[in-house]
Amino acid sequence: MKIIATAAEMQQTAQAAKATGKNIAFVPTMGFLHQGHLSLLEEGRRRGDLLVLSIFVNPTQFGQGEDFEDYPRDLQRDAELAESCGVDIIFAPTAGDMYPRGYATYIDVEGITEVLCGASRPGHFRGVTTVVCKLFNIVQPDVALFGNKDFQQLAVIRRMTRDLNMPVDIVGMPIFREEDGLAMSSRNVYLNEAQRQQALVLSKSLLTAKRLAAVGDLDCHEIVESVKKDISAQPEARIDYIKICHQLTLEEQHKVDSDSVLLLAVFIGKTRLIDNGFLLD
Ligand code: PAJ
Repeated sequence: MKIIATAAEMQQTAQAAKATGKNIAFVPTMGFLHQGHLSLLEEGRRRGDLLVLSIFVNPTQFGQGEDFEDYPRDLQRDAELAESCGVDIIFAPTAGDMYPRGYATYIDVEGITEVLCGASRPGHFRGVTTVVCKLFNIVQPDVALFGNKDFQQLAVIRRMTRDLNMPVDIVGMPIFREEDGLAMSSRNVYLNEAQRQQALVLSKSLLTAKRLAAVGDLDCHEIVESVKKDISAQPEARIDYIKICHQLTLEEQHKVDSDSVLLLAVFIGKTRLIDNGFLLD
């Protein structure tokens, strides 16, 4: 396994691999890898001749007062985990290499970036799409894998690749959870023991909502109110949003159908957690 630190070397390596007919599978991350990331790498290993993992804590997708400085980083540990998944190349650039002095170009997807996480974190998706577009140009993947954990991010990236005719196949992967249901996230390390317990309310309320829908309670307002009540009962929980949206448009729905996704963003203490799930299987 090779670790490449500059965009120029990564791009040359990708071009050389493609010239010999290899196809490239790519998993972009911000590092501090957990099983969720590893499940993407394992699928990537199956799909590509060359498997590239990027590790880059992207400054342009963090807002002021967010956790850019504190975001957990451990390249050595990540490299060991990546190697065990058969990664061929880790691309770990510096911020200076990705955004040199005078950097001035951004990608903006309209509409679906303005709701949910986009409404709470202005500029976040502009940073995500910009860095993912740059990473695609550098790594030149045939296939790129993303988690459904970040449901809106995946929808935004699908829209960007379609709108800009990017020759990349985008694959969405299931949410990987701890045994007790908590969706894996690099940010879970911020939670103390009491908060970790309270964080279970996210996955539990998804199950409650699914149960309501399964017995025919299809009124979105009623389901959202019931979930809000459960979450508000946790002492350190503060709701950012709880919404039932159409999986493609991300528009809010009134009545649950097979396209309905319940999306949650909740602060537990200072840690912002997200989760989501379809309501009807
Ligand atoms: P990061 O949060 O490190 O996540 C990298 C990828 O792992 C994303 O596609 C995310 O959806 C996926 N992932 C995270 N937790 C998961 C889980 N529990 N189960 C399955 N997949 C999971 O998302 C980002 O980084 C960045 O925004 C990035 C796309 C790299 C751009 O900077």
